[in-house]
Amino acid sequence: MRLPGLIDPHVHVREPGATHKEDWATATAAALAGGFTAILAMPNTQPPVTTVEVLEKTLALARQKARCDYAQHLGGTGRFGAREAALAPRVAGLKLYLSRTFGPLWLARTEVWHGPFHLWPRETPLVVHAERVTLAAALFFARLYDRPIHVAHVAYREEILLIRGAKERGWPVTCEVTPHHLFLSQEDVPRIGEGRAEVRPSLGTAQDREALWQNLEVIDVFATDHAPHTLTEKDGLQPPPGYPGLETALPLFLTAVREGRLSMEDVVRRMHHRVRALWRLPQQPETWVEVAPEASWEIPEQGWHTRANWTPFAGWRVYGRVRRVVLRGKEVYRDGQVLAPPGYGRSLRG
Ligand code: DOR
Ligand code: ZN
Repeated sequence: MRLPGLIDPHVHVREPGATHKEDWATATAAALAGGFTAILAMPNTQPPVTTVEVLEKTLALARQKARCDYAQHLGGTGRFGAREAALAPRVAGLKLYLSRTFGPLWLARTEVWHGPFHLWPRETPLVVHAERVTLAAALFFARLYDRPIHVAHVAYREEILLIRGAKERGWPVTCEVTPHHLFLSQEDVPRIGEGRAEVRPSLGTAQDREALWQNLEVIDVFATDHAPHTLTEKDGLQPPPGYPGLETALPLFLTAVREGRLSMEDVVRRMHHRVRALWRLPQQPETWVEVAPEASWEIPEQGWHTRANWTPFAGWRVYGRVRRVVLRGKEVYRDGQVLAPPGYGRSLRG
């Protein structure tokens, strides 16, 4: 079965600054192995991508090392001004960390939200990490400035209900959900292990997870929030939050299709068409993914392309395997082998 090249709008590449976890070459190898032909990178690197200097340095690394196509998000700081807003044509979108998470980017007080909400161009996505009550505040700002926002990784019943309410009233909001919030809950923590299970937003209750499934029509896109950390870090005293997700997302969704919880169209719309429309990405010519939807396999502990080389889904039986990926006319992945060299990937923002 042939699918269009998937696009993941939420990937933590870790370069610059933390290449022991991942870099542009390994993140994009994991992407291709997972059936993604384009990724949109998050800005909470070291240093974070908040200035033209770091943006240019990061794009230069991507240009040399990426194996699939890409664009980079800018991160908003408390001193957001016209200079930062002028970077919009060169980035995937602006990411605002309104809730606390990994890295230094946190806009704790609403008084510093006005700048980015006011200045960021309406045509370029403004992505918010806003959990629970903070999401209500972010929706208020979207209304106040009458501008669209995209809500990253919706995780809880209270959040999907806020978004449903906002959408029903015609407010300009879209959202994404991760595979881990759709397939895992707090009940999985003992099996995964406390440190490894750390993630932001943290796993919800089984009720939260079911509320996401019940409000599927409110969910615009699926995004992995691929957030690689090493097992040494995850099993240490201060486990950082996040899971690798690029290589397990499609098999999990194809398994849900097989079980009748999703249609194939639900998946393709949320992992390709809607992502491309929201971020206004160009079509990738001669690009597709061949999957064997009936191929059954057990998710292994290791042997992944991501440098982090672990998964919270180890031991799960899934149906659906990526066999072959063609990107811009070239075979870039076949049966476990990534064939695209570093540098094959192109920028999606000109
Ligand atoms: O679990 C997470 N990890 N959530 C985030 O918001 C950040 C990410 C990371 O960068 O590790
Ligand atoms: Zn993230």
